[in-house]
This record gives sequence, structure tokens and C-alpha cells, in this order.
Amino acid sequence: MKPMINIALPKGRLGEKAYRIFEQAGYECPSIHEENRKLIFENPEKGVRYFWVKPSDVVIYVERGAADIGIAGRDIIAEYEPSIYELADLGIGKCRMAVACKKDFCDNRDRTLRVATKFPHIARSYYNSISREIDIIKLNGSIELAPILGLSDVIVDIVETGKTLYENDLEPRETVLDISARLVANKVSYKFKNQQIRKMSEDIAVLIANS
Ligand code: PRP
Repeated sequence: MKPMINIALPKGRLGEKAYRIFEQAGYECPSIHEENRKLIFENPEKGVRYFWVKPSDVVIYVERGAADIGIAGRDIIAEYEPSIYELADLGIGKCRMAVACKKDFCDNRDRTLRVATKFPHIARSYYNSISREIDIIKLNGSIELAPILGLSDVIVDIVETGKTLYENDLEPRETVLDISARLVANKVSYKFKNQQIRKMSEDIAVLIANS
């Protein structure tokens, strides 16, 4: 029997879209549609085992080999820089990481810029690249509140439709990173389960190219 491919899917809308791609590419797992709280689903016939993890944890499972492959946003990959292979851009989950602030904010380069973000590594790299001195304020959510309440001057955060910024009287400024979901693989799995992983990756690439 062929070895199972362990696939880490990000819990939520992106993961559901990603699973549909696998399903259409011929790697379906009908039990995943059952209404329950199970986290692992497998279809031995197709040689696949899926599990739902927190989106930012996908790269941890893949890097450490608990998952052979997974779906991770480019934001998560850029933030954690895991030692994994990026096999394909799925073209879903498109958004961008941007600097945003109050509409009347005017940067004064004589002062350290206070930056609130969930992505300290990406924010630091960006401001290093433009030689701007910053003070990072690491938050875990509702980042938009920070400039409104005077906790920070700007935020570095994900912008999808722009609605959250708009409704909180903030505006996007520079784009830091364009984001989409990527198919990623564990380096050892890629070597030892090469045939299956490459076949899956190719089947998915064909599907994306034709959609
Ligand atoms: C993300 C991001 C923004 C929002 C952007 O938040 O941090 O708040 O989505 O989307 P929009 O441009 O379409 O309005 P998320 O829902 O992940 O929640 P959190 O960061 O506040 O936890």
C-alpha cells in the first residue's frame, strides 16, 4: 500500500477553499464534510489524511514533519521563515500586508515610529529596508484599534477588502507584501514521498492553470 500523505489545512474559509482544490484534483476525503468536531480525516483509497490546524501553525507542522504538505499564507511563511519547500501558488486567499494609519498622520523621521502588528518580523524587515527606526508593539488581533487609541502611530496588517480600515477611519499607505496561499512541503517528506507529493502538486498546478 502506498504511504499516506499528511496534509495540514488552515482552519477557516481559506482551508475550505484549499480543500476543494485537493478534492477537484482527485484527492477527495468525503468524511471531511461530516458535521462533527473531529480534526483528522482520511481516505486510505486516495492515500490522503487531512487535518485542520490554526492557520499560523501550518508551517510548524510542516517544518517538523508532522504534516508532509500544507497550505500556508505567504504572510505566515514570511513571518516565520520556516525551513520548508514552497511548491505552488494556489492563487487563493489573495490580500496584502500594508502600513495603515489615521488619515491625518504625517510621519516625522526625527522620532521613532511606533508600529503595532501581529507580524513583527515582516514589519521589522520592511522598516530596516527603508532605514526607518521603529518601536514594535506586538499585538494579537484587532490591530486597527492601536492608532485610534494612540497606542501606535501606524499598523502593519493584512488588508483584504479594505473595509476594516475604512470603517475605522484609517487609510492604507505603503504595501509591504502581496499575499496568497501556497502549497508547502516538508523537506524530508519531499525526498521520501517524492513521487506522491510531486504528482499531487502537478495535479493541483494543472487544475489551477485551467481554472
Ligand atoms: C484581518 C486583518 C484585518 C482584516 C482585514 O483580521 O487583521 O483586521 O482581516 O480585512 P478587510 O480588509 O477585508 O477588512 P482578522 O479577521 O484575521 O482578525 P484579527 O486580526 O483582528 O484577529
